[in-house]
Amino acid sequence: MENTSIQVAGNEIANILNEVRVSPEEARKWLEQNVQPYKELMAYYRCAIMEIETKFNVLNEELSLKYDRNPIETIKSRLKSPESIAEKMRRKNIFPTVQTIEDNLTDIAGIRVICSFPADIYMLEKALLEQDDVRLVEKKDYIQNPKKNGYRSLHLIVETPIFLHDRKKLMKVEVQLRTISMDWWASLEHKIKYKKDIDQNVVKELEKELLVCAEIAAKLDAKMEDINKRAHEAGIEED
Ligand code: GTP
Ligand code: MG
Repeated sequence: MENTSIQVAGNEIANILNEVRVSPEEARKWLEQNVQPYKELMAYYRCAIMEIETKFNVLNEELSLKYDRNPIETIKSRLKSPESIAEKMRRKNIFPTVQTIEDNLTDIAGIRVICSFPADIYMLEKALLEQDDVRLVEKKDYIQNPKKNGYRSLHLIVETPIFLHDRKKLMKVEVQLRTISMDWWASLEHKIKYKKDIDQNVVKELEKELLVCAEIAAKLDAKMEDINKRAHEAGIEED
């Protein structure tokens, strides 16, 4: 009975186990040691997503009163899948256990905040990082410094506590802030990049055109922001 429950629970993280090419006996031991802690760790990351998402929802509510419009268009959250966790641990060449996964991956909990205008991104970043239970771990500003392919977004790794019944635990969350146009661009680029068995000449051509689109999108973002600012100054507000 006990073995069966280990097997069933283990199915969810079978992909991680596949990376640990071990004997059946060692596999059983690995599952025994890791399945329950893995489930707990993922639950903690889900809680951390809720915490940070709530912070952005609060900011959106408050700032919408101040500016008469919502600075946030959409929030999308995701928990990294066991497949992606396994793949990343293999890429980093680290033996996966619940402890090494927590110690080495900073993007298990991911939140994408999509704004209308670039200025909103920096306003939200500042408001988030000023909160006394949020610590900035790492920042990559791909808006000021776009990637060579044209990718733009502001990436923050933040650490925030979740409050459990008997303790608090610090959790890392990856926050990606981008405009609607940056998000639109990234979705298409991602689709093209990860499609297998495509003529590489076609891919190269599409990448070239995507780079041009990224520049057009950046100009459009700046122009729309400017129009919005002038509309606001002229006393034109949203209904
Ligand atoms: P990863 O191993 O991908 O996490 O590399 P990294 O730790 O250097 O992360 P980085 O902050 O550069 O990017 C993390 C995430 O940002 C990715 O998982 C994607 O969601 C997104 N991202 C980064 N670069 C690109 C890109 O060129 N195109 C698209 N579509 N998304 C990107
Ligand atoms: Mg990363």
